[in-house]
Amino acid sequence: MQIAIDGPAGSGKSTIAKLVATKLGFIYCDTGAMYRTATVMAKQKGIDYGDEAAIMAALRGLDITFKPSPDGQLVFMAGQDVTLAIRQEETTNNVSQVSALPKVREEMVRRQREIAANHDIVMDGRDIGTTVLPDAEVKIYMVASVATRAQRRYKENVEKGIMTPVAKLEEEIAERDRKDSTRAVSPLRKAADAVEIDSSHMTIDDEVQTIIDIVNKKRLKTQN
Ligand code: DC
Repeated sequence: MQIAIDGPAGSGKSTIAKLVATKLGFIYCDTGAMYRTATVMAKQKGIDYGDEAAIMAALRGLDITFKPSPDGQLVFMAGQDVTLAIRQEETTNNVSQVSALPKVREEMVRRQREIAANHDIVMDGRDIGTTVLPDAEVKIYMVASVATRAQRRYKENVEKGIMTPVAKLEEEIAERDRKDSTRAVSPLRKAADAVEIDSSHMTIDDEVQTIIDIVNKKRLKTQN
């Protein structure tokens, strides 16, 4: 079974997707982390974030892997642990540019489909229900107000020792929404058959349960 969870930055997708995956015993794939890793790679190699040809040349043979750990999922780039680097402000502020490059998207979508091919999976991102897994049995589109999302990111950041004021996070989130939904290739968009969940006033438990209920209903339907 494939579960696609899309939505804007800070809508709570990854927290919820991870919990749903654990509850169901499915694997979890954070596609945002893949675009973030490509961004870290460009920075490390001194490649301009808009230089598609150079990024593609470096990305082609580059292994991006996930490893579960007691502290959450770790992300590796050619064996190097980039779990923290992909969350740094430099990465966050430039990942929209890298993820808008059509060839980079093509390569990532290919990899994401490969990962999804042989597993029951929960995959989160921006274009999972529309482009990566258009036949996913369950599609969720998560939304939340900019204020709620900035508060969440602020709390996450503080835990990681990153101190950015809430007002700045609100600006960054609004700007990233704008870039993600207006880019030419695979813009952030709700799939026609996705269920929308507004998490602004929901607890994490409620959100997870809402999705599990949708999954169970789907399973019953398929069995009958
Ligand atoms: O979910 P996130 O904040 O980690 O995503 C990082 C960036 O990657 C975000 O600016 C949008 C982009 N992204 C994308 O274009 N397509 C995806 N499937 C996942 C993320």
